[in-house]
Amino acid sequence: MEKILDVISEQVMEAMKASGYDEKYGKVTLSNRPDLCEYQCNGAMAAAKEYKCAPFLIADKVAKQLKGNGMFQSAESVKPGFLNLKLDPGYLADYLRQMEADKERLGCKKCEHPKTILIDYGGPNVAKPLHVGHLRSAIIGESVKRIGKFMGHNMIGDVHLGDWGLQMGLIITELRERKPELVYFDETYSGEYPKEPPFTISELEEIYPAASGKSKEDEAYKEAAMEATYELQHGRKGYQALLGHILHVSVSDLKRNYENLNVSFELWKGESDAQPYIPDMVEKMKKDGFAYISEGALVVDVKEETDAKEVPPCMILKSDGASLYNTTDLATIVWRMQDYHPDEIIYVVDKRQELYFTQVFRCARKTGLAGPETKLKFLGFGTMNGKDGKPFKTREGGVMRLEYLLSGINEEMYKKITDNHTVEEEEGRKTAKIVALSAIKYGDLSNQASKDYIFDIDRFTSFEGNTGPYILYTIVRIKSILKRYQAEKRMPEQAQILPAHSDSEKALMLEISKFNGVMESAFEESAPHKVCAYIYDLANAFNHFYHETKIMGEQDEMIQAGYIKLLELAKRALEISIDVLGFEAPERM
Ligand code: ARG
Repeated sequence: MEKILDVISEQVMEAMKASGYDEKYGKVTLSNRPDLCEYQCNGAMAAAKEYKCAPFLIADKVAKQLKGNGMFQSAESVKPGFLNLKLDPGYLADYLRQMEADKERLGCKKCEHPKTILIDYGGPNVAKPLHVGHLRSAIIGESVKRIGKFMGHNMIGDVHLGDWGLQMGLIITELRERKPELVYFDETYSGEYPKEPPFTISELEEIYPAASGKSKEDEAYKEAAMEATYELQHGRKGYQALLGHILHVSVSDLKRNYENLNVSFELWKGESDAQPYIPDMVEKMKKDGFAYISEGALVVDVKEETDAKEVPPCMILKSDGASLYNTTDLATIVWRMQDYHPDEIIYVVDKRQELYFTQVFRCARKTGLAGPETKLKFLGFGTMNGKDGKPFKTREGGVMRLEYLLSGINEEMYKKITDNHTVEEEEGRKTAKIVALSAIKYGDLSNQASKDYIFDIDRFTSFEGNTGPYILYTIVRIKSILKRYQAEKRMPEQAQILPAHSDSEKALMLEISKFNGVMESAFEESAPHKVCAYIYDLANAFNHFYHETKIMGEQDEMIQAGYIKLLELAKRALEISIDVLGFEAPERM
């Protein structure tokens, strides 16, 4: 279906043209004075300059032109030259009936030319527990991916594991101290390595911080860890077998964690998967004359004349020949291009890495790793702060582990739910988990991604205000009305959405009608917060309508059935929206 804003614009543009002015002045926008009108056109103000006459004259002509147009209840010119529009309730009802006929997509067209879009998000580091910093990447990336899928694009999510750095050497070193007898450390060993990992996930999680702590105090220990990293990266068999175990144990744990967040990835590639591509890539950069030695290191210049701030060269290899985070990201582009040839690669990463990605993207373009047909996009997100405005920490001031954060919020939610009424323990726990996830995700996604935000558990878990639980509460309320109606009444055959009977009903209908426009722009701008704003307005409009209208008490069965149809449509719009945001609604709460 065409977007309602476009349909309205077309009519006004035509009227503008019929009045003797360029149709471009007929563009319509949402009203910024909802007390006066629903849509407005300010084109006469601009047209007045071109045609050298009073803007009101133009607006007035266009308003007269629109008289009798069935799409509008009213089209009024107001001084100094605005055109205020109200939609005809019959037209609006008809638009909603068309939406309703398309249960799956509510009239939101799929894109005509599906793109292949690879999205790099999550970015957890192996063997290090997930912390809140990884939460934002997972939540935002998952939603951007789902919005793209909904619009019909081929979205490929890649977790891009951090599985290549010093942390691997640290773990190996610590393991060696603790269990030197393990066969992985015997360089003369040439047999098969055991299938069972020599540690559990909890041991692994304890080993890393222990090793990391020691390396900060003990220089020799750190050297040993660096040596182990080097040997691992240069093919030492026993260490590679250990890496396999670390990866395996870690990845199953990560999958469980992401599952709890309703987040999943198409690809479980890591930094280590890029390593085989490095030598050829570096050779080519040298051969093509892009990479040169500067102070011992191999670099590619990426500064541009128009830079306001200095953009340092992109370092490809350190003076000892070791590769860097850069090198891995560049080599990752190599296999992504080779295997998927994406139209776009989106990186959902902390915005503090923006300069770094500027370097990587420029280097990839300059050296031809990514052609002009592939868009490289950095979607940087801000910091999640605590109530004190500083990066979110545990009460003791340490880094907050994601698992603890989640279980804390689940517990909080469980208390709230069981405070309100009595539920079975099991159902209460299940509901709490669903609602808690909405609190976290909506709390995050309702902010523009690039902004910092305050993670305020009390606010996020509230059933009132601009929160996930409020949205779910609204859906549950609609569900319960629908259930009652089903149990008590029979929907008449001719039932349909009717022209609004009240202002609050019309306001709800107007909100619903924005659905396809919202999805489209949320995709184009990679902006889940637009979907949040839509469902918040929609939920408010519904609750207002609900408080002003006797739905179950309505005597006229056709009017009542029309309400029910409208409620079903509102529910559907809310459900599709929360699905692309990455959470769901319970049956009751
Ligand atoms: N593992 C990194 C971190 O924890 C994030 C990875 C982001 N993605 C990328 N392609 N560099 O900071």
